[in-house]
Amino acid sequence: MNHHSHASAPALDDAAALEIPASEEMLARLEARRSVPLRALAGPGPTPSELARLLTLAARVPDHGRLVPWRFIVIEGEARRALGEQLDALYATQNPELPPAKADMWTLYLSRAPLTVVLVSRPDPAAKVPEFNQVLSAGAAGMALTVAASAMGFATQWLLKWPGRDPEAAALVGARQGERIAGFLHVGRPRMVAPDRPRPLLDEVVTRWGE
Ligand SMILES: Cc1cc2nc3c(=O)[nH]c(=O)nc-3n(C[C@H](O)[C@H](O)[C@H](O)COP(=O)(O)O)c2cc1C
Repeated sequence: MNHHSHASAPALDDAAALEIPASEEMLARLEARRSVPLRALAGPGPTPSELARLLTLAARVPDHGRLVPWRFIVIEGEARRALGEQLDALYATQNPELPPAKADMWTLYLSRAPLTVVLVSRPDPAAKVPEFNQVLSAGAAGMALTVAASAMGFATQWLLKWPGRDPEAAALVGARQGERIAGFLHVGRPRMVAPDRPRPLLDEVVTRWGE
């Protein structure tokens, strides 16, 4: 074998597997992870250094071609109200019959969690890497953020309601041409231990090839 990409293979073939101990702490946290309803999230949110760490971990995902086909928009503090009011104004123009009680529903929506990270999918359609691979990388970033938040003692809920679906609302949130909002990842301290939901039975989602 003299192909260039195999140049270092013989040395690796001789090396023993590294012994990396299992992290029971990490496994226990992953086993307990679940969404917490938005209304059950509370402050305080992450400190600036915690937020930087959270986003650094979220950005640490498989990414075919290193295209970084996603980005994050952080909404916290006063920005929640400012964006909420813009969304409410747009929603009112789209829904003229809206009952007064719902006039501030998007301001309320964004006020519940101390931090919302908007996950933006931005695949490059001209890249050689299939768009599907790029979109999957964005989903991975969302999950990485969710897991990192859990490791840091926060809870999350990933929602994609009207502000994520409606192009005019998505533009107010900050989505640019060719971008799509993949989720509002609401982050906060859980006010309660949320009940778990039934999880898929392995028998229903796992088959063994050849059997
Ligand atoms: C892309 C995406 C969008 C979602 N949007 C909504 C939504 O708009 N409304 C909703 O009730 N749940 C939505 N969910 C599901 C919630 O996140 C739900 O709480 C979650 O699936 C619970 O699972 P978990 O406990 O394993 O986190 C969405 C999930 C994903 C992945």
